Amino acid sequence: MRSRLTVFNQKGGVGKTTTSLNLGAAAARRGLMPVLIDLDAQAHLTSILAPISSSNDSLFAFYSETRPLSALARSVALGGGTAELLPAHAELIKVDTLFGKGPGVLNRLKLGLDRSFEPTNGSAIARPMIIDCCPMLGVLSLSGVFASERVLIPISTDFLSLRGAVQLESTLQAMEHVFKQRVARRYLLTRFDARRRMSHDIAAEAQQRFGDELCLTRIAESVSVAQSPARNLDVFSHAPDSRGAKDYEALLDELLSTGFWEI
Ligand SMILES: Nc1ncnc2c1ncn2[C@@H]1O[C@H](COP(=O)(O)OP(=O)(O)OP(=O)(O)O)[C@@H](O)[C@H]1O
Ligand SMILES: [Mg+2]
Repeated sequence: MRSRLTVFNQKGGVGKTTTSLNLGAAAARRGLMPVLIDLDAQAHLTSILAPISSSNDSLFAFYSETRPLSALARSVALGGGTAELLPAHAELIKVDTLFGKGPGVLNRLKLGLDRSFEPTNGSAIARPMIIDCCPMLGVLSLSGVFASERVLIPISTDFLSLRGAVQLESTLQAMEHVFKQRVARRYLLTRFDARRRMSHDIAAEAQQRFGDELCLTRIAESVSVAQSPARNLDVFSHAPDSRGAKDYEALLDELLSTGFWEI
């Protein structure tokens, strides 16, 4: 499952969607044809890439067992290349209450991805996948973690965000018996502002707490990164020479060269 990444932090607004979008764009730019999976009822990633109107076109239809994932995938332009999107819809908020929290629901995404996107013969290359989660540890986020067994955890470089990441680390440790293994993880500093002392203090503390699991790449605070979604674009398509584009390119290189993400 090394070709799948789940981007998760139960803290809101830390850069999960921004990272899913731009890491996906960095991969699409290299012709890697990633699959982006929007598991968040806020549907921010979907609204940037390919807005939909009916929940029947979204992952809600997959969870209600009316449509397979392959029927939901939409081809989207990304980073100058192409990707596929599995869209979200506000109805996804009902998944916990309608379909329960049992192993069947938790495993459904993993099985669906295996069935719809994995190579059927040994020679084919596994599709890279990025799963964007909501800011809550519920059925959907857990099913993302189950589906990928590896988590990329953005931390917007401020104290509360670091605290949230420390809480998540405890949660992941407490869940090891459920996953029957240590879930592979990388922490990523986002919105890093080198001019602020606080950013350096937080980077030092994150390094101390997370050690080798902290990405060396830091995503800088960047106007281009913040502005691109307003134009329904990733940062490479919006501002290819920007700092934000360089940072996400560097993140892709780091994740691939360290083997955390295998494509
Ligand atoms: N590197 C960056 N530079 C500037 N702004 C950024 C950067 N990364 C993210 N942002 C901004 O921070 C805000 C939150 O980002 P984003 O929506 O990606 O977070 P999130 O973790 O997905 O939020 P949620 O928990 O609601 O899903 C957005 O306005 C986004 O544009
Ligand atoms: Mg988000």
